[in-house]
Amino acid sequence: MMENERPLLVAENLTKWYGRQLGCRDISFDLYEGEVLAVVGESGSGKSTLLQLLSVQLEPSAGRVSYRMRDGITRDLATLSEAERRFLLRTDWGYVHQDPTLGLRMAVSAGANVGERLMAVGWRHYGRIRTTAIDWLDRVEIDSGRIDESPRSYSGGMRQRLQIARNLVTNPRLIFMDEPTGGLDVSVQARVLDLLRGIVAEFDLAAIIVTHDLAVARLLAHRTMVMKGGAVIETGLTDQVLDDPQEPYTQLLVSSILPP
Ligand SMILES: Nc1ncnc2c1ncn2[C@@H]1O[C@H](COP(=O)(O)OP(=O)(O)OP(=O)(O)O)[C@@H](O)[C@H]1O
Ligand SMILES: [Mg+2]
Repeated sequence: MMENERPLLVAENLTKWYGRQLGCRDISFDLYEGEVLAVVGESGSGKSTLLQLLSVQLEPSAGRVSYRMRDGITRDLATLSEAERRFLLRTDWGYVHQDPTLGLRMAVSAGANVGERLMAVGWRHYGRIRTTAIDWLDRVEIDSGRIDESPRSYSGGMRQRLQIARNLVTNPRLIFMDEPTGGLDVSVQARVLDLLRGIVAEFDLAAIIVTHDLAVARLLAHRTMVMKGGAVIETGLTDQVLDDPQEPYTQLLVSSILPP
C-alpha cells in the first residue's frame, strides 16, 4: 500500500472523564494527509477536550490516538517519550489557540516568535532565520517593517496571523485549531479565514478545526463531525452534513435555531 494511503492520524474510542464530569466519549475517526476536518457543536459538547486529547496535551481515560510519524512508522501516542512528544508539538504539528496570547510569547518580538520555532528545530544561522521570518510575515500579510515590535502592539487580527505564521514556519503536516477566528471581529475573521484556506491548500496540510461557526466548516473543511454531550452524533462530507443533515440536532444547528 502506498505510504499516504494510510491515515495520518487514527482516533480509537477516545474517552475523557474529568472526575465524574464527562469531557468526551467513545470518539473514533481517521484523518488522512491533506484532509481538513471540522468539529462543530454547542458550548460544552467536548470539542476542546477532543482536540487536547488528539494533540497529547491531555491523557485519555480510555481509547488511543495513533499517528504516522515522518519516518512512516505509526505510533501509539501514549507510548511516546517526552522528547518525541515535544518534537511533534514543535515541528510536525501546529496548534492555533483561539486566544493568540496563549500561542505567542508576548514578551519577545514578532520576528523572534517566528524564529524561535526554527531554532527549536536546529536552525542556527541568524540571517537565514530572519529572512525566513520576514518571508512568513509577508505571507500572513504583516508589514515586515514591524518585525521587531512585540505582538502586544499588534491588533487582534495581526496577532492571530502571527500565531499562524509561528505555527507554520516549521512546515508541519498537521495543524490543530481551536476556534481560530472566534475572538475576532467579523470583518477581520474573513481575512484570517481566507489566509488559512490558502495556506492549507498550498501546503497540503491536514487540519482539525474546532469551531461553532458553520461558515468556517463550510469554507475550510472536507469533512465535518458534529458533537453533542461529549459524543459524535453525525459525521460526513461537509456539504452533506450541512446541506442534508440527518440528525435532528444537526438540523437545528444548521437552521441556526440553536445558540452558538
Ligand atoms: N478541566 C476540566 N475539569 C472539569 N471539567 C471540564 C474541564 N474541561 C472541560 N470540562 C467539561 O467537559 C465538558 C466539555 O468541555 P469542552 O471544553 O471540551 O467543551 P467545548 O465544546 O470546547 O466548549 P466551548 O465551545 O464552550 O469551548 C464540559 O462539560 C466541561 O465543563
Ligand atoms: Mg472549547
